Amino acid sequence: MAEIKRYILKRLEVLAEQAKPLAKPNPGVSALVVQNREILSEGRTQETKHAEVQALEGLKKIQKYSAKEADLYISLTPCSFYGKTPPCTDAIIKSGIRYVHAALYDPDERLQAEGDSVALLAKQGIKLSYSFPLEYCLRIFFLNIDYFFRQRYKQPFVTLKYAMTLDGRMAALDGRSKWISSLAARSAAAKQRALVDVVWIGARTFLLDNPRLKAEAKPQEKLSEKQRKQSLKGDFPSLKNPAKPLKEPKAIVFLDRDFSEAECQKLLDQKYQLLGSERKRLLWLVQKDFTQALKLAESEGIEIFQYPAKILKQASAFFDFVCLLSAKFSWNSIYVEGGSRTLFRFREAGLFHKADVYMSFSFFRSQAGDGGLIPFSQASLQKKSKQSKKDVDIKAEVSSITDLQLSSIHIENFGNEGLLVRGYTPLAKVTELCQLVIPNFDKQKTKS
Ligand SMILES: NC(=O)c1ccc[n+]([C@@H]2O[C@H](COP(=O)([O-])OP(=O)(O)OC[C@H]3O[C@@H](n4cnc5c(N)ncnc54)[C@H](OP(=O)(O)O)[C@@H]3O)[C@@H](O)[C@H]2O)c1
Repeated sequence: MAEIKRYILKRLEVLAEQAKPLAKPNPGVSALVVQNREILSEGRTQETKHAEVQALEGLKKIQKYSAKEADLYISLTPCSFYGKTPPCTDAIIKSGIRYVHAALYDPDERLQAEGDSVALLAKQGIKLSYSFPLEYCLRIFFLNIDYFFRQRYKQPFVTLKYAMTLDGRMAALDGRSKWISSLAARSAAAKQRALVDVVWIGARTFLLDNPRLKAEAKPQEKLSEKQRKQSLKGDFPSLKNPAKPLKEPKAIVFLDRDFSEAECQKLLDQKYQLLGSERKRLLWLVQKDFTQALKLAESEGIEIFQYPAKILKQASAFFDFVCLLSAKFSWNSIYVEGGSRTLFRFREAGLFHKADVYMSFSFFRSQAGDGGLIPFSQASLQKKSKQSKKDVDIKAEVSSITDLQLSSIHIENFGNEGLLVRGYTPLAKVTELCQLVIPNFDKQKTKS
């Protein structure tokens, strides 16, 4: 098969990126109909319409469209089952298009149950092939890794995010942390929130930092005239419809202290940015049965969820609880934004798939005097080890003090304002997932 042209790859990627914040928890998927090197129509997944359906519907208004000459390009296998919408394979068959090119496999079990889309389309004389370049597939893969991970392992995909100084501190012990991260870093973090289902913080971070936890980036609705000329020709009817408003992530506050009635009351203070108009995004995880204050909070739109006390003591119980919550609310992705003890709890439970570490090019102010809060700290770490130095085998110590080596590292440089180190831990099982969803992954990898 002929190589897929760069302008098609680029446009499909941009549309998939735009689709992700609109489609979550579904994957961000894009589609293009191309005829004689011209993009006639395009689509991207939204909550209700799938990308290929949108692109095919767009063709209705285009007179020069000829099914025999057009090809459909999509970033993920078209669905062959009834979900919220009818199967996309039906729409493809109806369109008369004969050639479909898909980038990644969709591991959704319903696809297997309903029959392979390749065979199903082949019966109608339509060829569905997979021959996108590996580097393109990888970019679409990482965009939707949370979806693939949840499909395969039935667990949420968890990113632990924090900002720290060059000497590894994320706050003063009295709670001050403003501003370790730069404006550039904060705006990059806000964009990540647009891609996730849930942002999770500890109670102390809620009380001390009073965060907004909002996703700032809106998917770009319109291309600039220059971009449009560079990458595309033609009219794009499907995108004239206004996109759905961006879905802000749910904001979870984990109250791991058994809060008294008065403390709960204080948490409802209007000074907190996550209250007011944002309260419908809030989910409080509480230990206690409903107090008057919690009842009031619930009546005002805050979601309250009671958890079993054992999750504070057992990492495995915490793991099960987070998986249960994710299944109940259909979350693929959780973005944990601290503080330190909250990060520790997730890491200890093995819920740590991706790290987003923002480093500022500064040091912790020595006058703060207390050494500062390090990431993943817990009270017991502060107790000195009684083990004598002499007893420690130096080699064993060296090989055991680091773990969770990151892979697929991405470094974003904000100039003098610091940098972002992003990577995936072995718990993300990146290679296994790539083998599952990227066609001929091992073969392509050996070649490259
Ligand atoms: N640099 C960054 O990226 C970043 C990000 C987020 C937060 N932070 C900073 O991290 C710090 C918070 O982290 P953290 O590990 O202490 O907590 P956390 O993970 O935000 O919250 C969990 C802890 O809060 C404690 N807590 C609950 N209510 C409290 C209260 N009224 N007073 C004091 N503690 C209370 C609980 O302790 P008990 O077990 O005692 O109930 C619980 O262990 C803040 O200073 C925040 O500014 C930094």
